[in-house]
Amino acid sequence: MDRFEYAEQLFVHEDQILKDIKEDIRRRGMPEIFVPPFIGALLNWLVHLRRPQKVLEIGALGGYSGVWLARGLPPEGTLLSLELNREYAQVAKANLAKAGLGEKVEYRVGPAVDSLIALAAEDAHFDFFFIDADKENYPKYLEWAITLANPGAMITADNTLQNGRVYSPEYRDRSTEAMRRFNQMAAEHPRLRSLLIPLADGLLAAEVLSS
Ligand SMILES: C[S@@+](CC[C@H](N)C(=O)[O-])C[C@H]1O[C@@H](n2cnc3c(N)ncnc32)[C@H](O)[C@@H]1O
Repeated sequence: MDRFEYAEQLFVHEDQILKDIKEDIRRRGMPEIFVPPFIGALLNWLVHLRRPQKVLEIGALGGYSGVWLARGLPPEGTLLSLELNREYAQVAKANLAKAGLGEKVEYRVGPAVDSLIALAAEDAHFDFFFIDADKENYPKYLEWAITLANPGAMITADNTLQNGRVYSPEYRDRSTEAMRRFNQMAAEHPRLRSLLIPLADGLLAAEVLSS
C-alpha cells in the first residue's frame, strides 16, 4: 500500500450508487473518463465547505462527478450541468434521480460555449464551477466562468496536467497547448487566486476575487 491508497481507503467513500453509475457507463459502452474517486471526494468536500447556491458543471458524461458535487450542496443548492451529447445527459439525469438528487440537478444539451453564452444573456451567476469537458476549450471555459462568477466563487477544473504533457515540451498538440494557456491564465489572472493541486491528473482550484 502507498500513501495515496492509505489516504483513499480511510477517507474516500465510494458507495454502491457511485459504483453503479460507473458500471452503467461501462455497460452502455460510454467512455470511462469520469473523475477518480479521490477527485470526486475532493470536489464534494470543496462544495461542502463553500456552501454554493448554484454550481455549474461543464461535462456531465453519466453523472458520476455530478453525484459527488450534488451531495455536497446545501439544502437549497442546485447543480446545472452542460453536456454536448443528448444521450449522455439523459443517462446522467437518470443516475442523479436514482441517487435521490433529481430535484437538485438540471441539464443543458449542446456545445458548452453556446450554453455559456445563453446563460450570460440570461444574467445567470454561479458560486462554484467544475470544468471537465473538451480540453481545447478550457481557456474559453475559464473566461466564461470568471464572467458568470459571483464574487468569492470557486472554479475547479480536472485534467490540468494532461498526464504530464503540459510540462513535457515535445508535446505541441492542440489540447496540450490549450491546457498550458489555461494553467497560465489561472496562475496569472488578476481576479483569480489559484492553485494547481497535482493530485491524479491535476485539479485546478481558484477563487474568484471581486473586480
Ligand atoms: C471527461 S467527461 C466528463 C466526466 C464527468 N465530469 C465525470 O467525472 O463523471 C467529458 C464530457 O464532456 C462532454 N463534452 C465534450 N465536448 C463538449 C462540449 N463542447 N460541450 C459540452 N460538453 C462536451 C463529453 O460528451 C463528455 O461527456
